[in-house]
Amino acid sequence: MLRSVFLAAAGSSRMERLISSVPVSKGIVQRFVAGAGADDALRTSRVLADDGLAVSLDHLGEDTLTAEQAAATRDQYLLLLGRLKSAGLTPAAEVSLKLSAVGQKLDDKMAYEYASAICAAAAEAGTTVTLDAEDHSTTDSTLEILSELRRDYPSTGAVLQAYLRRTEGDCRELATAGSRVRLCKGAYAEPESVAYQSALDVDKAYVRCLNILMSGAGYPMVATHDPRLIAIAEDRARWFDRQSDEFEFQLLFGVRPEEQTRLAAAGHTVRVYVPYGDQWYGYLMRRLAERPANVAFFGRALTSK
Ligand code: FDA
Repeated sequence: MLRSVFLAAAGSSRMERLISSVPVSKGIVQRFVAGAGADDALRTSRVLADDGLAVSLDHLGEDTLTAEQAAATRDQYLLLLGRLKSAGLTPAAEVSLKLSAVGQKLDDKMAYEYASAICAAAAEAGTTVTLDAEDHSTTDSTLEILSELRRDYPSTGAVLQAYLRRTEGDCRELATAGSRVRLCKGAYAEPESVAYQSALDVDKAYVRCLNILMSGAGYPMVATHDPRLIAIAEDRARWFDRQSDEFEFQLLFGVRPEEQTRLAAAGHTVRVYVPYGDQWYGYLMRRLAERPANVAFFGRALTSK
């Protein structure tokens, strides 16, 4: 119930104006977001690298409505990638990109061209790009753009959402040599016709997808904080004899940080997804939707000023 309220709020520009205008205690945003600019992203990447953690940096923003905004997002990524290279943070640091931030909802071709420019800059910096998954209406277009990008930049990563009924099939398509696939549960409000609704069904689907990816020839990126799924992934990695450079765990900045260091200390490759920028609203609402305790935290932050 609370989940759907927060996910509905994530897409409401009226709520965005309202929430962004209240003097929200900095703590709530700072818990999940590295800061407003590239300097903050670099500083956080350095701290995490010192703890043995890799990062995927996301310049916050989605559902861009103008070509100018899309070009500005592309330029932010180009700037970031140049700075990551000069700071010596690549290849451990890669970037995550939402195609809707580079104009996917305006013009697929523009989104492809801007994403391609970002992939070229990533290659130049010695690293790579992973395309985030957004709501199900974008999945076909995102996977088509992925396949075009992979012709020139084969290491470009995909994200698949276990809650979508189609995803087992997509896992089979993408579990091929050289293919990097992040598997997550899925963070959007989706109808029953396309997505499993109960937590149990989503978890079971996650395990089926994990089995396909772990037994395939690609590079699985296991994106979850769920202790049971993490344990199952460790088990499957042992079963399929995958070494620590043949799959990785991914967790979000600010979520279960002690688990991030525990997994790294156990010898796993661990990547932290680090968002930065001032367009934090939609991202924050999805994090609140995931955990009721975060809502209480948010409520206290709102009323503490
Ligand atoms: P689940 O939500 O069941 O959480 C398991 C446990 O983890 C909870 O009991 C709690 O302890 C902890 N936890 C989870 N979320 C928390 C939170 N927000 N705050 C505090 N504790 C929390 N989705 C998407 O649709 N497209 C995408 O591209 C991505 N990308 C992505 C990258 C990475 C690296 C991760 C980890 C996740 C994503 N996601 C995503 C989000 C994903 O779909 C999902 O919504 C969240 O990861 C929450 O699901 P869990 O698998 O963690 O399980």
